[in-house]
Amino acid sequence: MPDSLVIVGGLLQTSSGSRRLDILVKDGLIAEIGESGSLLGRGEVIDASDALVMPGFVDIQVHFRTPGGEESEDIVTGAAGAALGGVTACVMMPNTVPTIDNVELVNDVLRLGARTPCDVRTSAAITVDRLGERLVDFPKLYASGVRVFTDDGTVVDDPVLMEGALQATANMPGAVISQHAEESTMVEGGVINEGAVSQRLGLKGRPSEAEAVIVQRDIALAAKTGGRYHVLHMSTAEATHLVRSAKAAGTRVTSEVTPQHLVLTEEDVERLGSSGKMNPPLRTGDDVAALRAGLLDKTIDAIATDHAPHSAEAKAVGLVDAPPGMLGVETMASVVWSELVVPGFLSAEQFVFLLSHSPARIADIVEHGGELQIGDPAHLTVFDPKDEWIVSASTLQSKSVNTPWPNKQLTGRVRHTICRGALVVQNGVLV
Ligand code: DOR
Repeated sequence: MPDSLVIVGGLLQTSSGSRRLDILVKDGLIAEIGESGSLLGRGEVIDASDALVMPGFVDIQVHFRTPGGEESEDIVTGAAGAALGGVTACVMMPNTVPTIDNVELVNDVLRLGARTPCDVRTSAAITVDRLGERLVDFPKLYASGVRVFTDDGTVVDDPVLMEGALQATANMPGAVISQHAEESTMVEGGVINEGAVSQRLGLKGRPSEAEAVIVQRDIALAAKTGGRYHVLHMSTAEATHLVRSAKAAGTRVTSEVTPQHLVLTEEDVERLGSSGKMNPPLRTGDDVAALRAGLLDKTIDAIATDHAPHSAEAKAVGLVDAPPGMLGVETMASVVWSELVVPGFLSAEQFVFLLSHSPARIADIVEHGGELQIGDPAHLTVFDPKDEWIVSASTLQSKSVNTPWPNKQLTGRVRHTICRGALVVQNGVLV
């Protein structure tokens, strides 16, 4: 591999604007930026003609299933899918077996992640073994580099524990308590959104109020303690309104939404079957509209996928018994571009903000999502905004096939990905 790359002919697109310039990548950094053609001959030429050169995408919610769930994904296949999706940094969720709740396991995961084509970070649990009984050792985990703490998959039900977690991390710069916001007793046994479709199918529903109950409580606790609170995969209009008001009041709260909650509704579950099942569930058209409005006024700070692979066998058991979760890391950028940028709902600046700049700030990943300046670490995505393709579950990189976008026609696709200064995806293929 040549030790320098020249990205030629692209439009540099960041969250604050665009300029047509070439980039020289050398020694892992953006070494020079120059007029089109001025850097030719300085390294291997990477074609960015008719493409956007963006800071690499940052997905702050992925389940790579290492350790313990490697039949559905592992850190190597997960990171490979991320790279193909233009994701140069991601944050793994700790609902692994065993739970990532201690420094030893954090270090093991980071060691494995360092050998992949994506800058894989990990969160750690809020409570030991995610049992909701005892808080983890926050100072030790923080010192090992962990910034995101979450019991994702389950909520921290106990308000006293939640207050303790927010209190314990309030003065740790960059640390955040991320909540899977569904009150347990309200959603127990629930399969999909409580509403018209659950009624029609005779299934127990998961009510949207279960999200509002937790978000309202946690906002109050964040305000009381001064801790930083983040709502994972926010899915309802009610929670969006609560976060909007909390931000206006100055509470330290951020939120994220998945591509699927921005595009699909409970009506899609019948078509998708168990691939359309996740927690929190796909909601209603009104919720989708409220979430989209939340993107525009920055009530919602980031798009993250909750990439949640489950093996074909695990998902084959029908809607009621199938585990919740959907693939997402490889398709995130194309889905958001097709569904929200191409129709003119989001600008290219907002796209970069939501997929790169802002999630990197939420998870304190300082090397990613920047303004593409000389001296910055080179984590870049070259994205062809016009490339048309059709999602095929079987050709995605994941070990699993539970995509909510089977056979979907998309516009826009990652052409090249550069992570840590190295070309890791070239012309849509892993290097
Ligand atoms: O649907 C989901 N699946 N939601 C989560 O929060 C966890 C995830 C998983 O781990 O499969």
